[in-house]
This record gives sequence, structure tokens and C-alpha cells, in this order.
Amino acid sequence: MKNNLLKSSSNASSRFYDWEFNLICSEQKKDVNMWLKLAEKFGGPILELCCGSGRITIPLSEKGFKITALDNSVEMLQLLKEKADDNIEIIESDMTSFQLKKKFKFAFISYSSFQQLLSKKEQIKCLKNIHKHLKDGGVLGIDINPCICEEPDILTKTHLYTAWYPPNNSTVSMFTSHKIDRKNGIKHWQDIYVEIDKTGNETVYKNQISLKECSHNYMVNILEECSFAIIDIFGDFEEGQVTKNSNNIIYITGKN
Ligand SMILES: C[S@@+](CC[C@H](N)C(=O)[O-])C[C@H]1O[C@@H](n2cnc3c(N)ncnc32)[C@H](O)[C@@H]1O
Repeated sequence: MKNNLLKSSSNASSRFYDWEFNLICSEQKKDVNMWLKLAEKFGGPILELCCGSGRITIPLSEKGFKITALDNSVEMLQLLKEKADDNIEIIESDMTSFQLKKKFKFAFISYSSFQQLLSKKEQIKCLKNIHKHLKDGGVLGIDINPCICEEPDILTKTHLYTAWYPPNNSTVSMFTSHKIDRKNGIKHWQDIYVEIDKTGNETVYKNQISLKECSHNYMVNILEECSFAIIDIFGDFEEGQVTKNSNNIIYITGKN
């Protein structure tokens, strides 16, 4: 009989993160070039909030930037540590409450990670904390997904893909479901990964993630409230204009 193991763990997301990102995030991938260009423009030292496994951190350090990479997930930071060089300082902390002794010319939060703060209060705390850590004239860039709540309120368990997982020579099937809390503007996902190894043993990993809806007006207001002045707003990673079809809005703001 086949074994069926259930692992409901916080590290389900880190376990498959790099592999899944390369597999399905063909549009989001284009953000790396944009962050590299912005880093060239605004200079280091750089503070990357929610750096994750270093998808953007590593290309920045390879270009010679000194970068402080911050995340609150031990598992994601472990993945980064395995790839990091001396240009990278790794900090395990929360983006709302970190305390660093230095100040930065450029800070950024990529890939909707700011929206993992689920209340306006937490978001303001985070922005004010970043403000404190920027040098005079320093710049903050944030990539927001403005359309997270543009879907039906409920998606029942839906198969997204099945693919070969090279690290274990196994096969992974991914299923997702979501619920949208309209009152609070929060979307909650439950993702399930079913990994089947070459002997047929099955392990199930579960991961939950929630993001807060942040409309364009909401972002403009909250940034102003936290003393950031808008320098530029892009509707895609090629620095195009914002349109009603923009899946990403990138706010480039200066410390007032
Ligand atoms: C979608 S991943 C993005 C990782 C990376 N920036 C990228 O683009 O590949 C979101 C990251 O935000 C981190 N994160 C979520 N909430 C956080 C918080 N309050 N403080 C610090 N990091 C947080 C998670 O641990 C995760 O690594």
C-alpha cells in the first residue's frame, strides 16, 4: 500500500518556491531587469524587504551592489544563504519592525509582498519604518498587484499543474483554492502540493497565503500619508504606463 503523508507546514512555500516560480511566473520574472535598472539609477546601499530566497537579491549582488536582504521566513532565508556572497547582508526580521543601524539610498519590495500586510495599520507601520531607514533623498520602490480581488469570491480546489520536480526526481501536482473577504479586501489562498516519488509514495504539503487589496488611489494616499512623494508610477516592468489591464503597478517614491 502507498504511504500518504500530510505535511501542513510553513515551509511548503519555500520547498517549491524557486522551482515553481520558474515554472509558472513567466511575466513576473521580468521584474528582475527593472529592479536592476532602478538600482543603477538610485544607487546603493540597497535594502530589499521580503527578499525571499534571493531571486532578485542574487542578480543585484552579482552586479556589485551592497544589499541588505530582509525577510521574516527562516526557510526562505536559508535558501538565500546557500547562494549568497559577501555583498549580501541577511536579516531575519519583520518588515514592520526591523531596526538597522544603517541607512539606505534605495529600498524596494517586489512581487506584491507588501500586500502580505493585511491591515492599513501594519502597512503604515512598515512604510514609516522604511522611511526612517532611508538616507535623505532616498527612494522606495513597491510592486503592487492591483487586481487580486477581481475574481469570484470563492474558487474551490482547482488543479493548476502537474510537473516533474528535479530535486527529488518526483512529480508534483498543484491545486489551489481561494476565498475573498470583501469586507476587509483580503484574498486568502490555500495551495496544496501533492508530491509522488518514484516508488509511488505520496506526500501532501499545504500552504496558506493572504494578500490585501491595494487600489491605485489607496496606494497613492498611504504613501503620501507616510511622507513619500511619487517620482514615477509604472504599469509594467518595462516602465510602461498604467492601464486598466496592468497586473502590476510599480510605485517609485522619494523620501520627503
Ligand atoms: C512572494 S515572496 C517574494 C520573495 C521575493 N521578493 C521574490 O520576489 O521572489 C514574499 C516574501 O515576503 C516575506 N514576508 C511576508 N511577510 C513578511 C513580513 N511581515 N516581514 C518580512 N518578510 C515578509 C515572505 O517570507 C516571503 O519570502
